[in-house]
Amino acid sequence: MQTSPQSSTTSPAATPEEFRAALGQLASGVTLVTAHDPEDEEDAGMTATSFLSVSLEPPLVLVSVREDSRMDELLTRTDRWAVSLLGETHRAVASRFAMKGRLSDRLLFADTPHHRGPHTGAPLIDGALATVECRTVQRIPAGDHVLLLGHVLAAEVTAPGARPLLYHRGSYRHLA
Ligand SMILES: Cc1cc2nc3c(=O)[nH]c(=O)nc-3n(C[C@H](O)[C@H](O)[C@H](O)COP(=O)(O)O)c2cc1C
Repeated sequence: MQTSPQSSTTSPAATPEEFRAALGQLASGVTLVTAHDPEDEEDAGMTATSFLSVSLEPPLVLVSVREDSRMDELLTRTDRWAVSLLGETHRAVASRFAMKGRLSDRLLFADTPHHRGPHTGAPLIDGALATVECRTVQRIPAGDHVLLLGHVLAAEVTAPGARPLLYHRGSYRHLA
């Protein structure tokens, strides 16, 4: 059966509190999604746990981005973006890029060691476990978010053996 991703008004719906409490039980890796707008030389970065692999051939990934965020705004101007899979040393990076009403991305990136992805120009975080560079192949509206399906232009393990940063029940965590 086909249903609209915008959801039906007739079905029951979990409250935001129920939704957050239940979904918060799922332990996730933490990523930084980044993009660069070549026209005005602007960067944006957003902490995200919604990143997932979708298809091997062709290589596709997905990330869910809040519709009115700065990241979504930039991703309407460029179809190139990157994802850095953060390690346990990146806890401060994750929390700073997740803050609403935060400092400008320019200042945040000035304080965060990074280099530019050759395929996207997007900032890649130094010491990340792995980096993935993407080109948007589909934007799928989904409630108050938009799902970005990305074709993977390049994927690289950049810190073999480094330990991941995790997020579980509202807190950053490390592997024991
Ligand atoms: C652990 C964690 C995971 C997050 N995952 C996502 C995500 O997958 N998608 C998303 O849109 N926002 C996610 N956020 C929230 C964004 O990081 C945050 O709202 C955004 O950086 C603020 O951007 P803005 O100032 O442009 O609105 C997450 C926040 C945290 C702390």
